[in-house]
Amino acid sequence: MTSKSLAIVTGGAQRLGKAFALTLARRGYSIALHYRGSANEAEHTVREIRDLGVDCLPIRADLTLPEKIDFLFSIVDEFKSPLKILVNSAAVMPAGDPRELEVQAWDSALDLNLRAPFLLSQQAAKRMTAGGLIVNISDIGAQKTWSRYPSYTVSKAALESLTKLLARSLAPQIRVNAIAPGLVLRSDVVTEEQWDKLVARLPLRRAAQPEEITSALEFLIDNEYMTGQTIVVDGGYSLI
Ligand SMILES: NC(=O)c1ccc[n+]([C@@H]2O[C@H](COP(=O)([O-])OP(=O)(O)OC[C@H]3O[C@@H](n4cnc5c(N)ncnc54)[C@H](OP(=O)(O)O)[C@@H]3O)[C@@H](O)[C@H]2O)c1
Repeated sequence: MTSKSLAIVTGGAQRLGKAFALTLARRGYSIALHYRGSANEAEHTVREIRDLGVDCLPIRADLTLPEKIDFLFSIVDEFKSPLKILVNSAAVMPAGDPRELEVQAWDSALDLNLRAPFLLSQQAAKRMTAGGLIVNISDIGAQKTWSRYPSYTVSKAALESLTKLLARSLAPQIRVNAIAPGLVLRSDVVTEEQWDKLVARLPLRRAAQPEEITSALEFLIDNEYMTGQTIVVDGGYSLI
């Protein structure tokens, strides 16, 4: 397969980010695979992507640091293919009561989940001269009042606002959309028991398969009339 275009996926070493990266690789995109701490998983994912016949380079960066975003793009500029897609998937979800949440837990979520997609989009837009697509990975929590995760919830709500603002500013060359999953893959911040209880409350009574989230990314690639929207894929979570 020849790689005609380049896609960047942040937090792409494992879990949902990896699913986005593999989806794009299967469509023939070269992949700039960003990761931060998961070096082994990144190495494994890079191999899986290269086995699909496309270029893939791992790029390690702490995206809470603006200078590391510049560094990431200095590597991106080494690819020969033109940048076409940016998927902002990296995120953190600090837990804490809003009355006691520490500044660090506030800043880490806002810096990674909101400021990094903004700075990455600024840099990507400079390179997407022949058109492009930016996809921000939000969360159904953006519509909720998850008081156990104040900085995460606020960051995702603001990310959806940023999605609309950038869609308007970067049109017509660049489309900007978001995907808001509900429950997909349990992380360590939620116990298995809590997760099962949450899943049991969902109208569709199950968590999503990663492919049910990545198919929203494929829809956004294929439908070139979509911009400024958030696609909710939540098994009915927003209804409860
Ligand atoms: N999982 C779900 O059920 C679910 C549901 C709704 C929405 N979402 C959203 O979907 C996206 C992916 O979810 P996920 O569960 O797969 O994510 P995740 O495992 O919680 O984290 C994604 C990645 O963020 C990276 N990261 C953490 N701190 C970083 C930093 N300072 N700088 C750069 N990268 C950093 C990590 O990379 P390393 O591992 O390399 O350190 C991690 O792999 C997120 O935006 C999440 O909010 C997920």
